[in-house]
Amino acid sequence: MEDLPHMAIQFDVTTGIFSLETNGSTYQMQADRHGCLLHLYYGAPINGPADYLLTFYDRGFSGNPYDAGTDRTYSLDALPQEFPVWGTGDYRSTCLTVKRPDGSCGCDLRYKSHSIRSGKYDLPGLPAVYDTAEQCTSQTLEIELEDICGGLSVTLLYGVFPELDVITRSAVVKNTGTGNIFLEAVQSACLDFVGGEYDLIQFYGRHAMERNYQRSPILHGAMVIGSRRGTSSHQYNPFVIASERGANEDHGDCYGMSFVYSGNFTCTAERDQYDQTRLTIGLSGGQFSWPLAPGECFTAPEVILSYSGRGLAALSHNYHRTLRRHVCRGKYRDIPRPVLINNWEATYFDFTGDKILEIARRASGLGVEMLVLDDGWFGKRDNDSKGLGDWQVNEEKLGGPLSNLVETINGLGMKFGIWTEPEMVSEDSDLYRAHPDWAFALPGRKPVRSRHQLVLDFSRPEVVDHIYGQLCRVLDSANIEYLKWDMNRSICDVWSAAGDGYGCGAILHRYVLGLYGFLERLNRRYPDLLIEGCSGGGGRFDAGMLYYAPQIWCSDNTDAVDRLFIQYGTSFGYPVSAVGSHVSAVPNHQTGRITPMKTRGVAAMAGSFGYELDLSKITEEETACVRRQIADFHKFWPLIHDGDYYRLSGPSRPDCQRAVAAWEFVAQDRSEVLVNLVSLECHGNPPDLYVKLKGLEQAALYQDESSGSLYPGGALMTAGLPIPRPTVEYESWQIHLRRA
Ligand code: GLA
Repeated sequence: MEDLPHMAIQFDVTTGIFSLETNGSTYQMQADRHGCLLHLYYGAPINGPADYLLTFYDRGFSGNPYDAGTDRTYSLDALPQEFPVWGTGDYRSTCLTVKRPDGSCGCDLRYKSHSIRSGKYDLPGLPAVYDTAEQCTSQTLEIELEDICGGLSVTLLYGVFPELDVITRSAVVKNTGTGNIFLEAVQSACLDFVGGEYDLIQFYGRHAMERNYQRSPILHGAMVIGSRRGTSSHQYNPFVIASERGANEDHGDCYGMSFVYSGNFTCTAERDQYDQTRLTIGLSGGQFSWPLAPGECFTAPEVILSYSGRGLAALSHNYHRTLRRHVCRGKYRDIPRPVLINNWEATYFDFTGDKILEIARRASGLGVEMLVLDDGWFGKRDNDSKGLGDWQVNEEKLGGPLSNLVETINGLGMKFGIWTEPEMVSEDSDLYRAHPDWAFALPGRKPVRSRHQLVLDFSRPEVVDHIYGQLCRVLDSANIEYLKWDMNRSICDVWSAAGDGYGCGAILHRYVLGLYGFLERLNRRYPDLLIEGCSGGGGRFDAGMLYYAPQIWCSDNTDAVDRLFIQYGTSFGYPVSAVGSHVSAVPNHQTGRITPMKTRGVAAMAGSFGYELDLSKITEEETACVRRQIADFHKFWPLIHDGDYYRLSGPSRPDCQRAVAAWEFVAQDRSEVLVNLVSLECHGNPPDLYVKLKGLEQAALYQDESSGSLYPGGALMTAGLPIPRPTVEYESWQIHLRRA
């Protein structure tokens, strides 16, 4: 038995079983008698081998590998696998499709060797979970598989984080042969369940209404979600959960898969002929085809796996902790982000330097800490039909150099941030006039326009370098402490005029690598710059972007009530610290809804907090409310940022009242809790509503900070807390309780 001090990864040479242990889970696989790597088990911790779960029967139309000889009971069509491949007898959704130089498809991977080491592997050029030097308890397992006929090897990578209850996976495919091959699909992880009934929980949406919760049974047939839009997309998020049929927020087995990638992806959930369930996620879906020359390697983006035997809340906590501390980087990972004011919904393109200063002055007087100058400050960008690609300050519009404006804003005690959209170009721009071939377009065809704009070919290093140079000149010209990185259309017309022979199936992955390379350079050159990701709001809200930008504008929909639903769905896989959320004007610009100022603040405080409205147009009462909100946000920040987030209402809580949206932040030591309530319905003479709190200390008493009332922790969790009766539509409450 080989093992390391913490025993997180063990290998038993006699059985060929690998056991990966976290505090709350065991993951087992076996290099079996044929050298096939079979998946055995993922779930609650166990202390023995789980190979007894494998069953061997002669099953009609389920073929047997040649080297199984006359054994008709051994079939890859039925056995659970770790990294199933296409073409050699597994007819389910597989992880790898390889096209050989002779046009044949298929490979047959067998165990060759493995190694175990302390620390977490890196993925060059790709975002990945990292360990911190202070805490380093992670371990890495590499398993090398080889095609039975040679010419191809696959190294499976596993990172085990015992305290986080997380296992990461990736795979490196190498062409060890003599001819060019094509990878037609590479899924980064596969989870096979030999029995049980599972639901797929996924987060679908559209622009301005992202990440809606959908739970459906995984039945016979394949359920496929993903993106073909070049970004991870508003439509489907690359975070999914397979949950035991009866699992809820507090009970049951749940498995998460978070794909650490910001481009196209495919996730397949399938129940097979023998009622087994398979879940895979990675690159594929018809748009992917990666040429691999002899000696070259391809690295699959990472997947973060997590298991909770205590329902969805605990699963979310695993992802929150992992993303917040082991994916996000930079100084703003741990310190409060400045409360910001963004001018977009206040002015759109219609502003001058003086108007921006007026907004900054008013905001700074109320306690706002940073002004973000949104779209329209560069080139001839007075509307959305022009200017993208010309990242030169429009000094005429600003009334002088950017540095003057920034100095004045800094003089108010505020930081300054700026909007950009580096991946895009307008046809009406100097950049496009000089380099029309830098935008994606199919040969001989006019490209599809979206928001009047075209997409720059970020698969070409010279394009990336040019935009990088332009942005650095702006960033170097003034004290800019925040950058909003936007991306406002879906990609199509995928063709690289550079014609380097890669083929269109490789361009979009190379595009994402170009984007990551750019963001990595920015992070290194400006280590203190706070970057906020954005893609028409939350069109690229994924763990990959969080590696470069610790917060992402969650949605272009700033309506407080719609945001409750968007942020609810987002909370399953992402921490509150990742959610960009602003208080905006009413009637709301997206929905026309009118909500109280207080409610807009309560909703925005479940995120990186800010404002996006003309503060000179609000009432005195609202002004006082803004001051209080900012003070409250500072006071509650440690609880919001580092506390455990619990969903107390919502579609996954059928036991809960639907008339109220409720969520809660609980300090890690359970000494404090902030309960947030927003009334969604108003009726005459309504029945009383109670909300059951979570995560408190059963035997402790908790005291309401404002009323002084004392409540037994056990009662708050079992019987609940009475919700005040609303007196106006969409009224909200924040109740702060401390352990007495
Ligand atoms: C996108 C963003 C908005 C705003 C506009 C500017 O839609 O999501 O927040 O920055 O672009 O054009």
